[in-house]
Amino acid sequence: MKYNFLGRSGLQVSALGLGTWATVGESIGHAHTVEIFQAAQEAGINHVDTAEAYAAGLAESEISASLDEIGWNRDDIVLATKLYWGIRPVVNWGETLNRKYLLRSVDGCLRRLNTDYIDILYCHRPDPHTPIDEVVFAMSDIVASGKAMYWGTSEWPAGSIRDAIDFAEKYGLRAPTVEQPELNLVWRSRYVQEYLPLHRDTALGLVTWSPLASGLLTGKYAGKTSGTERAFQTGMEWQRDRLLNGARDEVATFVELARDHAVEPSQLAIAWCLRREGVSSVLLGASSVEQLRINLRAQETAEVISDEVEKRLESIFVTDLERHE
Ligand SMILES: NC(=O)c1ccc[n+]([C@@H]2O[C@H](COP(=O)([O-])OP(=O)(O)OC[C@H]3O[C@@H](n4cnc5c(N)ncnc54)[C@H](OP(=O)(O)O)[C@@H]3O)[C@@H](O)[C@H]2O)c1
Repeated sequence: MKYNFLGRSGLQVSALGLGTWATVGESIGHAHTVEIFQAAQEAGINHVDTAEAYAAGLAESEISASLDEIGWNRDDIVLATKLYWGIRPVVNWGETLNRKYLLRSVDGCLRRLNTDYIDILYCHRPDPHTPIDEVVFAMSDIVASGKAMYWGTSEWPAGSIRDAIDFAEKYGLRAPTVEQPELNLVWRSRYVQEYLPLHRDTALGLVTWSPLASGLLTGKYAGKTSGTERAFQTGMEWQRDRLLNGARDEVATFVELARDHAVEPSQLAIAWCLRREGVSSVLLGASSVEQLRINLRAQETAEVISDEVEKRLESIFVTDLERHE
């Protein structure tokens, strides 16, 4: 496993990280979660990503139970979680980054994760209603309190991240260290237009999500499905059509290209992400150990694909595939 510095920080994260969205506490049970974590540890993964909102807090509890069962030393893991969506349907407690919510909710994360610190605490989305100074002060205070080591943003416009960095620098506060955007072959314009220039300017770290566009880039939706795949999961209705019908011809051409190079489509898709400038860690999602093992081999694929293959890949998927959140 390769390890990269998280932006300009001194913290190293594995080039492949393990995510827990829609899987841990949801589509997979405890025994499989433990197996997946064990395989991740054996492969040298040290970066585990979750969020307060994943399975409404259950993903965080499942992570701590699984790490405990494996005996994976907490200090050996870079554990990330996120705040914004909330899990209580009460005013001030959801879709917000207000100070009260941030400072109180972090304690819930710590309790569920059964730890006294989080390595990376993300603001899961931008909040147009809370001023940037309130957010930066709150996140900086959380870092200063030791409850989080670093803080980051997810899916924030580059201009807002820049404002947060400038504000923090002006007032001697902790600035965000990392942004977590979606990045894959069918969703890459924002990386090119916003995050890559920002990374070049400020050395902001990038941890990217959905390298397979939720499974689309495995090619499996073109064949016979079992009905247990993510597209059919409750709560995934918003991306069902994208998964079942999105970019069919392009995906077919992509799968053929992967086969021509004797690799799995998922390995080629993840390898493309691994090769992107500024990306510290690519977060994988897996609903079985087999999937994780296949996807981990993307590291080897990333070493051998040529610039020509990479160009060919990018020419297959010319425009972003529309997504709705
Ligand atoms: N910051 C954010 O807003 C945000 C948003 C989303 C995700 N994330 C993070 O990023 C992580 C990764 O995102 P993701 O889960 O969407 O990643 P992904 O790699 O795009 O999708 C993972 C899913 O694809 C399917 N899959 C994976 N490998 C496969 C294989 N070899 N063959 C067939 N199917 C395969 C599995 O779903 P099925 O088997 O169920 O079909 C798996 O759960 C998340 O877990 C989360 O931690 C962050």
